[in-house]
Amino acid sequence: MFKIAVLISGGGTNLQSIIDKVKSGYLNCKIEIVISDSEKAYGIERAKENNIYAIALSKKQYGDKLSDEVLKIVEEKGVDLIVTAGFLSILKGDLLKKFKNRIINIHPSLIPSFCGKGMYGLNVHKAAISYGVKASGCTVHFLDEGTDTGPIIIQKTVPVFAEDTAELLQKRVLEKEHEALPEAIRLIAENKVEVQERKVFIENN
Ligand code: GAR
Repeated sequence: MFKIAVLISGGGTNLQSIIDKVKSGYLNCKIEIVISDSEKAYGIERAKENNIYAIALSKKQYGDKLSDEVLKIVEEKGVDLIVTAGFLSILKGDLLKKFKNRIINIHPSLIPSFCGKGMYGLNVHKAAISYGVKASGCTVHFLDEGTDTGPIIIQKTVPVFAEDTAELLQKRVLEKEHEALPEAIRLIAENKVEVQERKVFIENN
């Protein structure tokens, strides 16, 4: 069975969307472990409620060694794919080399807009509204050494209205995130994704 690790920092609605799609049979995967960089993340409760093994690696305790600890755990567990879903720590080092094109991230904008350093959560939607864009959305991409720079797997769009608040836009985008992330996981689990430099080729059924 294809094994995934989901890395979170907060509420974990994306984690919940993966849990739901595993339960419904859409995803033929096992969530082997949920790793949080915060003990307070509500996503840990979501995992426990669903009998998924979950641990918190506090940033204070691991500091610069957080990525190495994640690598140790995912190797021990035989994880095939790492999914960062609202995970706010930066991953680096050997983990990125050993899991090249096996770590995916979800970002709440249409990359390369409103991404990079400081662009997370509501900040992203505030920036999109202030700029006055008429469309935003979400992006699932492979993780590389940069921030939000890896090859793009899936993007989904939503309209942006002049009257929008960041909270309203966030809600609209999250609905798309909850479709896009399981879709990307399924494509990878079914071996339908091939990466050539920046381009991601997806096999049609
Ligand atoms: C999601 O909107 C995700 O795209 C975003 O954090 C939120 C986490 O929500 N990630 C980033 O901004 C990363 N740059 P969740 O905990 O409910 O899944």
